[in-house]
Amino acid sequence: MKPSPILPGSTLGVLGSGQLGRMFALAARQMGYRIHVYSPESDTPTGQISDLEVTAPYVDLDRVRAFARGVQVVTFEFENVPSDTSRACAELVPVRPDGEVLHITQNRLREKMFLASHGFPVTEFRRIGSLADLEQAATDLGLPAILKTASFGYDGKGQQRITTREQLPTAYAGLGGTEGILEAQVDFGMEVSVVAARTLDGRFAAFPVFENAHSHHILDITMSPARIPPDLAWQAEVLAQGILDALGVVGLLTVELFVTRDGRLLVNELAPRTHNSGHLTLDACPTSQFEQQVRAVCGLPLGDVTLARPAAMANLLGDVWIDAGGTPRWTAALEDPSIRLHLYGKAEPRRGRKMGHLTAVADTIEEAILRVSRARERLVQG
Ligand SMILES: Nc1ncnc2c1ncn2[C@@H]1O[C@H](COP(=O)(O)OP(=O)(O)O)[C@@H](O)[C@H]1O
Ligand SMILES: [Mg+2]
Repeated sequence: MKPSPILPGSTLGVLGSGQLGRMFALAARQMGYRIHVYSPESDTPTGQISDLEVTAPYVDLDRVRAFARGVQVVTFEFENVPSDTSRACAELVPVRPDGEVLHITQNRLREKMFLASHGFPVTEFRRIGSLADLEQAATDLGLPAILKTASFGYDGKGQQRITTREQLPTAYAGLGGTEGILEAQVDFGMEVSVVAARTLDGRFAAFPVFENAHSHHILDITMSPARIPPDLAWQAEVLAQGILDALGVVGLLTVELFVTRDGRLLVNELAPRTHNSGHLTLDACPTSQFEQQVRAVCGLPLGDVTLARPAAMANLLGDVWIDAGGTPRWTAALEDPSIRLHLYGKAEPRRGRKMGHLTAVADTIEEAILRVSRARERLVQG
């Protein structure tokens, strides 16, 4: 029997309390849901706008169970929650996406093995458990190659680019005794992502493909529609659907992809949640990625994901505050009426910390990029 949908008025539980949870909570509240959030921190971006903020370690399973008893469904905004935590929740309420999806996507090696074994295209990779493994892998894959920790990496953290064999011992030492993965370096022309949703009964919807530009391994600007041929965009969506189906995702999942210079797609990594590259959906699509997550995890029909107009999003890192000497010049940025400002409620700006973003919607993608870039420059220059 099909489970009944979790209707507005119900309480949704979020594990993790950053900006992704905040924007999820805003979307959920708009639709009349209540929000409870659980994380080890307090006064968090999500907690500030939730009905209840629980501050406790993820491994405190008594607190986790008490949290789960107070909600109708549990979802994530942070995928590195221990397996035991999601299992404890799953004893009491639906967890969407489920613990198995989390388990696979938490570890780059498991993730790549899952993808490769299901026939999805990935760059060549090897498991690294010792220096001897790394030496053999460097011979097999050639250099340059990228060494990554198998777990807990984000925004390029835990990654080293290896160009010569002399670097192998130091690079291996950099793993600090944890499991690693060596990946052949991809000579990509572009990075893109697909944010997609899947319901309990297998219905699927993918947002238009996002084109992503990184700076120092952190997402800098996203634009959509991606400037790739339509058949490649279609292939990316088909790939995403295959992956969500194979994982049995209920909820949202983001597929990060490389477009190689010869026009092929390779899956880089998966995130079982909304994604930084999907933020422009808040301003450019009838349904945002966050509302779509609400709908998917609650068992409601999925919303319209059409991109109304070309859009671009620029991340605001703590660097903007520091470079502006304290307070960014908000008025100067907002002088362009096409610019929309999103801030995450984080008190302390640090270099590399995601504090907010700007979005511009325009007639052409080039114009949207120009407007959002200029607005971000004005924050610092006045
Ligand atoms: N195998 C690779 N070849 C080329 N570039 C890579 C490779 N792996 C990662 N990168 C670059 O580093 C960025 C971050 O790596 P990623 O695996 O997405 O980790 P995370 O986003 O979790 O830090 C990618 O977006 C890409 O720009
Ligand atoms: Mg990534």
